[in-house]
Amino acid sequence: MRIASIVGTRPQFIKLAPVSVALRTQHEEVVIHTGQHYDYHMSELFFEELALPAPHYHLEIGSGSHGAQTGRMLEAIERVLMEERPDRVVVFGDTNSTLAGALAATKLHIPLAHVEAGLRSFNRSMPEEINRVATDHLSQHLFCPTETARQHLQHEGITCGVEVVGDVMYDILLQMQPGITAHTYTCLDTFKVKPGHYMLVTMHRAANTDNPKAMRSIARALNRLEMPILFPVHPRTRARMEQYGIAWKSHVHLSEPIGYLDMLTLESAAYRVLTDSGGVQKEAFLLGTPCVTLREETEWPETVSAGWNVLVGTDEKSIIEATGLPTPEAPQKQPFGTGDAAIRIARRL
Ligand code: UD1
Ligand code: UDP
Repeated sequence: MRIASIVGTRPQFIKLAPVSVALRTQHEEVVIHTGQHYDYHMSELFFEELALPAPHYHLEIGSGSHGAQTGRMLEAIERVLMEERPDRVVVFGDTNSTLAGALAATKLHIPLAHVEAGLRSFNRSMPEEINRVATDHLSQHLFCPTETARQHLQHEGITCGVEVVGDVMYDILLQMQPGITAHTYTCLDTFKVKPGHYMLVTMHRAANTDNPKAMRSIARALNRLEMPILFPVHPRTRARMEQYGIAWKSHVHLSEPIGYLDMLTLESAAYRVLTDSGGVQKEAFLLGTPCVTLREETEWPETVSAGWNVLVGTDEKSIIEATGLPTPEAPQKQPFGTGDAAIRIARRL
């Protein structure tokens, strides 16, 4: 079977890695990179680190407003799909690249598979929520990472083609685990931090970066925390910080976005992770580091009910208080599968 995998952003390259390996053992795979992310540290670095073959098509769409960016992608993806005529299209997660891929495939009557189906924040002001709801309703194969995700689909009347396979990000994290252990000493030395004596921060959600009040409040909290802070900065966030003229105290160390192994290693050895990223919340949980989420809701409620993730939004005082909460008990069970999600996806397709 010929399968076209469509990706475009940092977390999608990571999700693609295990899926692509599994697909290629049984199928012919064509990888389409929309070019939504294009900086070296947001794209190529992940292809190198994860030993992903260069994409067959690089559409070089770049940045833009939601409509312009998604529209350009739709047109370019359609052209490739008409040429390649794959038997299935696979899309990942909830970005504009996901939505464009889903629309292009559906209009050409190519069966669509959605990896990470059924996640919901129930916040329709998030672009990602629109993208994931629309994609789920267009898909014929819905690969859910968790049982909660399956229930969300059921509530929306989607039961056909749904399978809980586990989370492909757990698959790849398990594969990276020996590397994390081996890399810890060098990594912490490079970043000049000691295990358990620093916090790791990431932030890129539009609700935080595009709202000066929210970003200033988060910045005030970070500036008041009495521990070194490592903050690899997403390009969107960097631009807004400069625009708002945010000043940082000397314990807050900003950097370019970092590689995946460095990121996992720093998450693993941090005292606390503070983030608005979906993937980072879940990785912190899986690596046993308490997480403070700079949002009001999460697509990964299992991390909250297990006691390892606290949703604080952007309030300065709440952020500071949450970092001081005691470390919770180790979770009884792990809700993200058994590390074979990608294999199950390839087999089902
Ligand atoms: C996108 C996804 C989000 C995902 C995130 C992963 C959508 C709507 N959002 O958000 O769900 O969590 O990727 O990181 O698809 N930029 C650069 N260089 C790059 C990429 C982006 O400078 O390589 C800057 C541009 O100014 C751009 C801005 O970042 O306008 C936002 O990029 P975009 O891809 O539109 O959204 P993200 O915030 O990255
Ligand atoms: N990540 C990374 N380097 C960074 C920031 C994040 O490798 O500087 C990884 C992180 O470990 C996770 C993924 O990128 O696997 C999450 O992507 P992001 O936060 O951009 O998107 P989201 O998960 O919120 O959609």
